[in-house]
Order: sequence, then structure tokens, then C-alpha cells
Amino acid sequence: MTDLLWKLEPATAAKHRLYKRYLDAWWPIMLQPTPTGYLRPRVTYLDAFAGPGRYLGGEVGSPVFVLGRLLTHGSLSRMHLSRERVRLIFIEKNQARYDHLVAELTTRFGDLDSLPVTVVVRHGEAAQLTLPLLTAARAWDNPILAVFDSWGNVNVPLSPVITSIARNPSSEAIVTFGPNWFSRRENEDPGQLDDVFGGRQYWRASDPDQSPGERWRGWLNTYRAALRRAGFTYQLQFMVVPGTGQPLYLVFGSKHESGVEAMKAAMWTVDDSDGMRFSDPRVQGAPAIGQLDLFSSSGVVDQELLELVHQHLADKPLTTLEELGRWLLLETARWQSKDAKAAVVHLRDEGQVAIQPSGRITKSSTIRLLQGP
Ligand SMILES: C[S@@+](CC[C@H](N)C(=O)[O-])C[C@H]1O[C@@H](n2cnc3c(N)ncnc32)[C@H](O)[C@@H]1O
Repeated sequence: MTDLLWKLEPATAAKHRLYKRYLDAWWPIMLQPTPTGYLRPRVTYLDAFAGPGRYLGGEVGSPVFVLGRLLTHGSLSRMHLSRERVRLIFIEKNQARYDHLVAELTTRFGDLDSLPVTVVVRHGEAAQLTLPLLTAARAWDNPILAVFDSWGNVNVPLSPVITSIARNPSSEAIVTFGPNWFSRRENEDPGQLDDVFGGRQYWRASDPDQSPGERWRGWLNTYRAALRRAGFTYQLQFMVVPGTGQPLYLVFGSKHESGVEAMKAAMWTVDDSDGMRFSDPRVQGAPAIGQLDLFSSSGVVDQELLELVHQHLADKPLTTLEELGRWLLLETARWQSKDAKAAVVHLRDEGQVAIQPSGRITKSSTIRLLQGP
């Protein structure tokens, strides 16, 4: 990474595609009147590691595309934008990148004080500025989406920063980690892990006999548990695997099942033409098949989905289709409730499960794992 701008890595490009999809769905959900006609008084988006707003090849950074897509959103006429109601907060610690970001935003969008939404750009430390800026924006008690996109600098303490956001009624948070993040901190700066997990008692040094993949699974589970303790009811963890280059690890916390559904819907509609995919870190060695292969012309059901369903049935040999679907939604990285049916039909046809009653499969059908020979 050079001092000011750097090359857009494939994992970052893939992550950007996911953010765009997710935010395209998030803004109208939060800003349009609810079915009962209620208009939320305030909606806040915070990017605590904002970057300079551009990459070396000219590609735009997250603050630029987030603001640009909001201002040109297809549902704009129903979103009731106002400076009081909609706030975007960007924090950047590096002075040159901060200056670049301000210039980039101003060049593209004109005077920020004249926009139909409030844009706050601050130079400083994410850990110190996040809460005061949310308070100054009067964000609390209203929806907040907070992105901690540090890729190697996650020194945002669980308490009070993440905990305060997680306890807010309609919050969501996205935290990204680059490869080796945890193992490096474990050796060089264990105090940072204490901050990130909320105390030394919440993490354990990784086992040197484990494979790098197993260690990552362990760390992500530990971080997922931290988000749960902080107050996020639902937590998703997944790997963003670009067509080439290093993966990126992402943990998403939400207070609402609908947030998890929206994130998964975004994953399934991201353009993956360059071979990018999302993987479940808990599936070891399963061929990670691209999303579009879910129901390929040969009728093959994704191996990762089958393996996860099998793992769940091994823990819970008798369950219902509904419970299995909920588990897929809330506990796996990318699968949705509706995927349960295809998986159990496939496993039934292979003689691995029995479905009762026979005939039409409904959400109350019971699924029983059959013991092997
Ligand atoms: C991975 S980049 C962000 C990229 C940007 N979100 C995007 O997707 O285009 C991380 C940025 O965070 C900044 N940064 C690092 N530590 C920080 C901290 N403690 N507080 C605020 N910003 C920080 C870095 O200077 C860098 O510009």
C-alpha cells in the first residue's frame, strides 16, 4: 500500500460489489415509509475506515460509490431524503488520504453542505471518533449501518464502540479482516485482540497444529461470539473469495432476521462473472462451487450446501424442513431458507435421509438422517 492511493485488490473489488448490492437494498428499506406509514426520523451510515476515495487505477472508493448510488437511487422519489434525516459519516486517520477524500467528494458532488443529505468527513482515529460522531449526528434510537473496513487495522474496541452500536435498536455492522490478521496480532500485539474481543478471557491462542483454515474458522467463530455478546442477535461470517488473489473475511452483525435475509439476497445477486464467490469458512475442503451452479443444468445441488445440511443433521438427526431452513439462513454464510428443500430432496434420492410424511414436502415435514451401513 503506498502512502496515498493503492491498487484495487480483487478481494476489495468483490467486497465493493457486495456493498453496492446491500446498500441498494438497505437505503429504501430504511428510508421509505414503513407499511404502516411510519417515516424513520433519522438513518445513519458510518464508514469508519473510509480511505482516500479512489484507487490507483481510477476506481472509486467506498465513500464515493455509497454517496453516489444513494443520490441516484431508483427509489429516490420515495425515500424522503433530507439533511436532517439522512447522514453519512466518513472517518479517515491518514491526513493525506483524508484530504484526498474530501477533494474527491467535493469534485464529484460539489459543495457537500448543499447536498440533500448530511455528509460528515473527519480526520482521526475510528476508535475515538465513532461514538462521538454518532452522538453528534443524533443517530441513536434510529437505524445505523456501521462499516469497519480496516483490513488489517481493526483496533476498534468491542466495548464501548461495537457494543454501543449493537445495543441500538436497528443497527447493523460489517467488519472485515484481511488474511493473517488474527495470527499476526496474536504474536505481536495480544492487547489488540483483548480490545477486539472484549477481554483476554474471550480468546485463546491458536493451536499451532491446526491448519491455517482451521485457525481462521476458530478466530471468526470467536469474533462472531463477540458480536453476539455485544448485542447483535444475528451474526454471519463468510469469506469473500475473488477470482484471483487473497480472500477477505467478513463478519456481519444484525439485530433483525430481515437484515440477514437482505445480506444473503445481496450475495446471491452480486455479479460473479469473474469467478468471485462467497464461502462458508466452516466447510472444510468442500469444492466451493460458484453461486450460479446451485441448480446447474445437470441438476447438481451445491456440495457446500449438502455438506452443511449433513453436518446439521449429524447434530440433530430428526428435524423439520422449517427448522433446517432457519438454521441455513441464520447459521450458514450464504444459504437461504428456501435452499433446504432442494438439499433434502437430493439427500433423500441418495438414500441418506427419510422425509415424513411421504408425498408433498411442506415446512412441517420431518427430516431424519439415516444411519450409514
Ligand atoms: C482498507 S482501507 C478502506 C477502504 C475503503 N473503505 C474502500 O472500500 O474503498 C482502510 C483505510 O483506513 C485508514 N485507517 C487505518 N487505521 C485507521 C484508524 N484507526 N482510524 C481511521 N482510519 C484508519 C487507512 O488509512 C485506510 O485509508
